[in-house]
Amino acid sequence: MNHIPVMPLEVSNYLVNNPNGLYIDCTFGDGGHTLHLLNNFKNIKIIAFDWDEDVSKRFFEEENLLKGRVIFIRENFKNIRKFLLKINVSKVDGVLADLGVSSKQLGNLVRGFSFNSDILDMRMDNRNKLTAKEIINSYSSEDLADIFYTYGEEYKSRQIAKAIVLRRKTMIIDTAIKLQEIIHSVKRINGKKNPATKVFQALRIFINNELKNLEALLLDTPRLLNTGGRIAIISFHSLEDRIVKKNFKHNSNYKVYKIITKKIITPSKKEIQNNYKSRSAKMRVAEKINV
Ligand SMILES: C[S@@+](CC[C@H](N)C(=O)[O-])C[C@H]1O[C@@H](n2cnc3c(N)ncnc32)[C@H](O)[C@@H]1O
Repeated sequence: MNHIPVMPLEVSNYLVNNPNGLYIDCTFGDGGHTLHLLNNFKNIKIIAFDWDEDVSKRFFEEENLLKGRVIFIRENFKNIRKFLLKINVSKVDGVLADLGVSSKQLGNLVRGFSFNSDILDMRMDNRNKLTAKEIINSYSSEDLADIFYTYGEEYKSRQIAKAIVLRRKTMIIDTAIKLQEIIHSVKRINGKKNPATKVFQALRIFINNELKNLEALLLDTPRLLNTGGRIAIISFHSLEDRIVKKNFKHNSNYKVYKIITKKIITPSKKEIQNNYKSRSAKMRVAEKINV
């Protein structure tokens, strides 16, 4: 468990309102946030979710470090209430989600998230069927363009989709490296950012249904939280952040939540220097005010 969690101090300070409470870490990953919270609050307990098989294996290998204070559930957080009810939990004191992929998932070339992978997969949960390879090799040009535009805000979505459809007449696009090359033939490298970033992001969000999962989690949470309980969501791109902002605003209008972070929380300069990947993180926090 060695992932550097994003904004760990801010998460502890904003999430925990009850030092003896029960908390949910929806995105356990490498356990960075969970460990930080357990170390800071000696009497809290955590139920952790993560749908990734590797994460689940690592959790059970290292479970003894957590001294019985964490229960792990390998499931999609979109079904959070259903799975909590199965273990007789109907109310909790806080819900945390640190969205997206972990550094371990990104760095693991056999998962197909990174530009240099020699496969094309991108599933966070390998029990799901749909892979990036299937989408890239079978979807129509229009459908590909829609995915790239909707989930990546890629302005060259149509040209990239056409280039993919043309290229797959002569070969199977079965690695991230090949996909990246096709994108580069349409969008030249210009500056620091890889021109394939938006298409890769779009595919990952689509395959893992990331926005729908987030919406389902946000819909379930008010009924889960005790009064005074808090929800903290860390997002990494504007599509997610917009959904969180809208949900908190709606619940605040209906006097279900009080918005705690009037100004969005972002990592300090020092944190960004130490952990460059944290640079686009944004945290919003709300508190349940209604019974
Ligand atoms: C950014 S990482 C979390 C890192 C973690 N906070 C830490 O400090 O180690 C996101 C994790 O959430 C998991 N995840 C993403 N969407 C999920 C979902 N819908 N259900 C369950 N787990 C999910 C991913 O598999 C990944 O391990």
